Amino acid sequence: MFKTITLSAIAALALSAGAAFAAGEEAHTEDTDFSFEGPFGAFDEHQLQRGLQVYTEVCAACHGLQYVAIRTLADEGGPHLPEDQVRAYAANFDVFDAELDDFRPATPNDHFPKSNVSNAPDLSLMAKARAGFHGPYGTGINQFFKGIGGPEHIVSILTGYTGETKEQAGTTFYENHAFPGGWISMPPPLVGDDVTYADGHSADLHHEAEDVAAFLMWAAEPKMMARKHTGFAAVLFLIILSVLLYLTNKRIWAPYKGKHKAST
Ligand code: HEC
Repeated sequence: MFKTITLSAIAALALSAGAAFAAGEEAHTEDTDFSFEGPFGAFDEHQLQRGLQVYTEVCAACHGLQYVAIRTLADEGGPHLPEDQVRAYAANFDVFDAELDDFRPATPNDHFPKSNVSNAPDLSLMAKARAGFHGPYGTGINQFFKGIGGPEHIVSILTGYTGETKEQAGTTFYENHAFPGGWISMPPPLVGDDVTYADGHSADLHHEAEDVAAFLMWAAEPKMMARKHTGFAAVLFLIILSVLLYLTNKRIWAPYKGKHKAST
C-alpha cells in the first residue's frame, strides 16, 4: 500500500515537472536557476546588491518600489548592506514631507519612491504578481523545484527583445516574445555593460537581468528565508510526530489485534 502511494506520488511529481516545462515554453518564459529556489534555497546577498545597483542606475529612472522600506536593505537574508551605506543610499532620494511641507532627503525609514513614469508599473510586487510555473490544476508543485516563475518572467522580458519596433497611436512598441501580446511599450532597458559592478562580476545582459530579477524577488518576498526555515522545522516536527503517533497507535491496539487474529 505504502509502496503504491509512493510510486504514484513520484509519478505525479514527474508528470507535473514535465508539464511546467511545456507551459513555460508556450509563454516564452525561460527557466533560470536562482539560488533561492527549492526548499533549501537562499538569497545570495552579493547578487541582491548587484541587482540593487542595476535597479538604481537603470530601472529607477521609470519604475518605483513604493512598498519597500529602504531600511530593509540592511536586513540579514536580504542585501545585508551596512547601516551607514543604507543611510547614504537613502539620502540619494528626495521625499515629500507633509510636516515640513517641503522635500527633504530620504532616511532609511522612508520607502523607495513611486514610479516616475506614469505608465511604468511599480515593481515592488512584480516578481510575485507574474508568478508562473503552477503545474497541473494550479497545484503549485512545480514551484517547489523551479521557484515561482516571476523572476524568470522578468529575466525573459529583459532579454526577450527582438529589435523590432512599431508605432501605434503615437506610442512606440517594442517586440518582445516574453510579453503577452508580443509588443511592450518599455524600451529595452538593458543592453549589457549598463553598470560596472564593484565586485568585478560580469555585467553582460544576462547577468544584469538575473541580478535585478533576484533583487525584485527579494523586494516582493523579503522574508522568504525565514518562511523556508519555519516550513522546514514544521515538516520535520510533523514527521517525528507522525512516527510517534504511529508507534503509539500500534502499541495501544496491539493486544486487541493479536486476539482478533487468534480468533479467526
Ligand atoms: C524608460 C522607462 C523604463 C525603464 C528605464 C525601465 N522600464 Fe520597465 N517598463 C516601462 C513601461 C512603460 C512599462 C509598461 C509596459 C507595457 O505595459 O507595455 C514597463 C514594464 C515593466 C515590467 C512589467 C512587464 C509585465 O509583465 O507587465 C517589468 C517587469 C519591468 N518593466 C522591469 C524593468 C526593469 C527590471 C528595468 C531595469 C532594468 C526597467 N523595467 C526599466 C518603462 C521602463
